[in-house]
Amino acid sequence: MALVPRVFLTAEQIHNRVRQMGEQITADFPDGPIYLIAILKGAFIFLADLSRTIKTPSRIEFIGISSYGRGKTTSGQVKVTKDLDVSIEGHHVLIVEDIVDSGVTLTYLMNVLKQRRPKSLSIATLLDKPDRRLRPVEVKYVGFQIPDEFVVGYGLDFAEDYRNLGDICILSEA
Ligand code: IMP
Ligand code: MG
Repeated sequence: MALVPRVFLTAEQIHNRVRQMGEQITADFPDGPIYLIAILKGAFIFLADLSRTIKTPSRIEFIGISSYGRGKTTSGQVKVTKDLDVSIEGHHVLIVEDIVDSGVTLTYLMNVLKQRRPKSLSIATLLDKPDRRLRPVEVKYVGFQIPDEFVVGYGLDFAEDYRNLGDICILSEA
């Protein structure tokens, strides 16, 4: 059966919400720099858009984490595949994530980064699927809460496809 992406959030809806999130983050962090740490690869487009709406001086970093194989469900195994290039000790850190699903990835990453003694550590996610949570994780900034559906586009993939879609789409069988 063919997989068909159906539009769930339009590019315009996403951009409006991302701008609001940036305004909130700017207000909450009057003093920079903030280290915006995007989790590869899914958060790269969200990071690009969000970072341009934040007026507080920011620095951009990437971290690679893998918790999924090529399918739609977690393998439960989390590891750092690309570490940060810098020390975050004494700095404000905002983890930028595409979607929080089970919470396994972020629980692991929060523990790893906390040990590096940042001044503050919080999370911004574009999407949140609260129904699927296995580990409680405190997410300070949430773009959209969504139902338990598999979504692609705006950086999110299914087996590396669909990341370049401008809209966020639900991937379902035709
Ligand atoms: P968690 O550890 O289960 O919270 O997994 C979060 C990661 O799983 C996200 O960073 C995504 O890479 C991936 N993921 C979870 N749900 C989806 C989805 O609906 N579409 C695409 N990727 C997803
Ligand atoms: Mg991800």
